[in-house]
Amino acid sequence: MNSLVPTEKIWRNGAFIAWEDARIHVLSHVVSYASSVFEGIRCYETPNGPAIFRADRHMRRLIDSARIYRMEIGWTAAQLRDAARELVAANGLSSCYIRPIVLRGYGPLGVYGGDNPVEVFLACWKWDAYLGEDALAQGVDVCVSSWNRLAPNTLPALSKSSANYMSSQLIKMEAISNGYREGIALDVAGNVSEGSGENVFVVRDGRILTPPLGASALEGITRDAVMQLAADFGISVTETQIPREMLYIADEVFLAGTAAEISPVRSVDRIPVGSGARGPITEKLQREFFSIARGLRPDRHGWLTAVEVCESVL
Ligand SMILES: Cc1ncc(COP(=O)(O)O)c(C=O)c1O
Repeated sequence: MNSLVPTEKIWRNGAFIAWEDARIHVLSHVVSYASSVFEGIRCYETPNGPAIFRADRHMRRLIDSARIYRMEIGWTAAQLRDAARELVAANGLSSCYIRPIVLRGYGPLGVYGGDNPVEVFLACWKWDAYLGEDALAQGVDVCVSSWNRLAPNTLPALSKSSANYMSSQLIKMEAISNGYREGIALDVAGNVSEGSGENVFVVRDGRILTPPLGASALEGITRDAVMQLAADFGISVTETQIPREMLYIADEVFLAGTAAEISPVRSVDRIPVGSGARGPITEKLQREFFSIARGLRPDRHGWLTAVEVCESVL
């Protein structure tokens, strides 16, 4: 369980405020109408201090998510990246999870929302392994959800909006209540889409497959990192429709996301994946991913944004 341990400061609309002051009114537009978009970013501890993983890509996606919903953020990706650096430094954390949130606030209360103020918050706190401490090495047991992912042209899957996470909650709650660690949802055509908070990868005969963005999946930033690392290793990755049953005959399956990082799947619907343990390609990608994120190997793709921590908070 990832408990929320308060830190000192939260960034709101360009200024730092105390954690406990980051409040909104219950009649803010977002509460009734789910009008918010957000990000989840990890900051890793490296030998040279904290480093935010792919900050620019996350901030770009935040702005894109808002744009789809006609929300004017008023900050550039570079400004938000710098704010995130300052936030981590101000809270004196060596590693953490960063949560930017853009929401429609207090004002007229009707569906439209265009006259409500757009507020931007950045918070951070300590976070552990999302799918459990054992997940990264042992793998997780997952099910195929009875809930389909969002249909195209209903709620936009490329926008990381809070509304999409009502679907994710159904998938996750069903999985947990049936004794699984995570659920994989199919798209409305019945092909593999994504986990409640992760993209899905399948390995078969040494090749990697992952669903295309048209399968109602989020354009994951870890997904992109996995694809780049696989290319570095000369491992083929194909974005293609994946029928459900491919999950049962794959040599390896793994989940990729900021929270779950790269987590092997050891069974799907109680059918062991391959040998039922982490597979060699998953392990290779996982090792490389963590080595770069934790600053143990050169940052050859330019993924890390260093945080300058004052001596006084070390
Ligand atoms: C539904 C969903 N799919 C995929 C992902 C993976 O995206 P990322 O790697 O950018 O965190 C996430 C996590 O943000 C997610 O919530």
